[in-house]
Amino acid sequence: MACRIYALAQQKGGVGKTTTAINLGATLRERGRRVLLLDLDPQGALSAGLGLDPLSLNRTIYDILRSARSDMAGVVQQTDSGCDLVPANIDLAAAEIELVSEPGREQILKGKLEAVTSKYDYILIDCPPSLSLLTLNALTAAQGVIIPVQTQYFALRGMDLLFNTVEKVRTRLNPKLTIVGILPTMYDARTTHGREVLEELRETYGTQLFETVIPLTVKLADSAMAGKSIISFHQQSPAAAAYRALAEEVEKRVH
Ligand SMILES: Nc1ncnc2c1ncn2[C@@H]1O[C@H](COP(=O)(O)OP(=O)(O)OP(=O)(O)O)[C@@H](O)[C@H]1O
Ligand SMILES: [Mg+2]
Repeated sequence: MACRIYALAQQKGGVGKTTTAINLGATLRERGRRVLLLDLDPQGALSAGLGLDPLSLNRTIYDILRSARSDMAGVVQQTDSGCDLVPANIDLAAAEIELVSEPGREQILKGKLEAVTSKYDYILIDCPPSLSLLTLNALTAAQGVIIPVQTQYFALRGMDLLFNTVEKVRTRLNPKLTIVGILPTMYDARTTHGREVLEELRETYGTQLFETVIPLTVKLADSAMAGKSIISFHQQSPAAAAYRALAEEVEKRVH
């Protein structure tokens, strides 16, 4: 199977990008896929959520983006979840500024990933909560984007800006780029408000919305705190079932 590179992107913070990277990675792995997770957020939450201490990392994605010579394979780490990881930490915040004057600055990540695509079935890129140069690098390197949205009021706010950005990247930098799906997260079926927002998302986005809905549960936060995925920490929980269903859907939505 050819490697599929998907970015988890949404400029709104705290919508479940990192949680989805960890748990979709783990459930794709469970299906026998070879998965690389790439932390592209200076907060390093993906690296921390997989049990690494971001401050004690020697080499990170920052070194890869900054040096023409360094190659991706040299920073890949193995994690307990079975997924490989390219970690990040706060050093990456400087890349935003330092790369602005580089020629082909949006294409740096794409070029670097070419060296590892033959080793993986999926590469999932966890973007920061902004439409910054880092996110543009992810969208340029990817074939698809997965957009988590919190099932809360104002869920749709800012989505036009994100779609416009995807469209601009598609026309100017990466004609292959498609939206794999929009993923409702943190869904609380007990509230009318949750159900109304989900209904609104379905009306607005139709089949672009994944059928899978990720429930609101502290078990996801707990497992990330423990440096584990939901399928190893709370194997039988509804959230584990949801991320398994998401993996199945993602595999079906070939682009
Ligand atoms: N379905 C869920 N139910 C309950 N809590 C969740 C759920 N998904 C994520 N969380 C928690 O919500 C917080 C934000 O999630 P996460 O870090 O995945 O979002 P993010 O979009 O990556 O945030 P950022 O934009 O800051 O990178 C975390 O504390 C996470 O553990
Ligand atoms: Mg995050």
